Amino acid sequence: MADKKIFIFDTTLRDGEQVPGCKLNTREKIEIALALEELGVDIIEAGFPVSSPGDFESVSEISKIIKNATVCGLSRAVQKDIEVAGEALKHAKRGRIHTGIGTSDSHIKSKFNSNREDILVRAVQAVKWARNFTDDVEFYAEDAGRTDNEYLARVVEAVIAAGATTVNIPDTTGYCLPAQYGEKIAFLINNVSNVDKAVLSCHCHNDLGLATANSISGAIRGARQIECTINGLGERAGNTALEEVVMVLKQHPTLGLYTGIKAERLNPISRLVSDTMRMPVQPNKAIVGANAFSHSSGIHQDGFLKDSQTYEIIRPEEVGAETSKIVLTARSGRSALAYRFKNLGHDFNRNDIDFLYEQFLSLADKMKEVRDNNLIALADSYLQSHQS
Ligand code: KIV
Ligand code: ZN
Repeated sequence: MADKKIFIFDTTLRDGEQVPGCKLNTREKIEIALALEELGVDIIEAGFPVSSPGDFESVSEISKIIKNATVCGLSRAVQKDIEVAGEALKHAKRGRIHTGIGTSDSHIKSKFNSNREDILVRAVQAVKWARNFTDDVEFYAEDAGRTDNEYLARVVEAVIAAGATTVNIPDTTGYCLPAQYGEKIAFLINNVSNVDKAVLSCHCHNDLGLATANSISGAIRGARQIECTINGLGERAGNTALEEVVMVLKQHPTLGLYTGIKAERLNPISRLVSDTMRMPVQPNKAIVGANAFSHSSGIHQDGFLKDSQTYEIIRPEEVGAETSKIVLTARSGRSALAYRFKNLGHDFNRNDIDFLYEQFLSLADKMKEVRDNNLIALADSYLQSHQS
């Protein structure tokens, strides 16, 4: 069977930008949108046009510039929101309105003081309003992760009948387990009569650290779009990390799923987003963290130096990262020390290294990391004492 494409819907500029401190101006948003297009994302959610004049301007300007990707604007299921989104997107070569409403009983009662039947009517109405502006309408069933599946299936069927071409099933609170989220997607595929007329989309938050696992589980069970952000930015604990889903699918070709992302651009765009949003990436972040390709324990270093595949499943150049690093700490071994000396131009023999290793260890016990300048000093003093 032919491999199936997973559409990558990037929401760094909308869900990611909602993070306190990450706000961007139009110029910054355009720079990131262009980098996302270069990366190969299929859909760029550029903002929430009704939320502020600045965001309206950003979505409008991005719509004028982007050539290949679809540009998307968010709205609530409110006529004014949808009209403003339609206006902001009017220059887009391909424009999408993303509208929706909460469907869990918690949202229906606490947010809307309403009932399931009323919400169904409002959902259908929102899609019809949006279709006045574009044929590409995505509906989100907010808090779908905690929505009763039977009711969710009714909503999904009704919005597809009203003209939604993509239906987003957000795990808004990051509550679901991977198997549960996958079951939800499978339930919709098996119980919504017109599901073949729309793409189902995963939008998973990371409150329990399961966002990537849930999105992959949804894709395995039939969703064809994943919503994600660079560096996993997003509300609270964040959204699904784009770089993670892309590399999971690349590393596991037997899943039969692929994306159009140019993986070698993942690290450069991660740095661009981190710098522009002033949001550092945690060092141990998969794919794009500073330590993602660093080896520091003696056992790992020895194996890695014999064959990199013993401790690395991805080559750093595949994802545009700098070369793998051998970091020297008190947990490092002789082969790593010899390797680092060799890089500095000292080809010491086994006896030299045995001697130098004892000196290195006493230094390393006092420091977090032994750096090149420390090694140079060690080598100089060793050579002086052994030459005289
Ligand atoms: O998390 C969520 O439910 C959202 C929707 C607005 C799509 O971000
Ligand atoms: Zn979200």
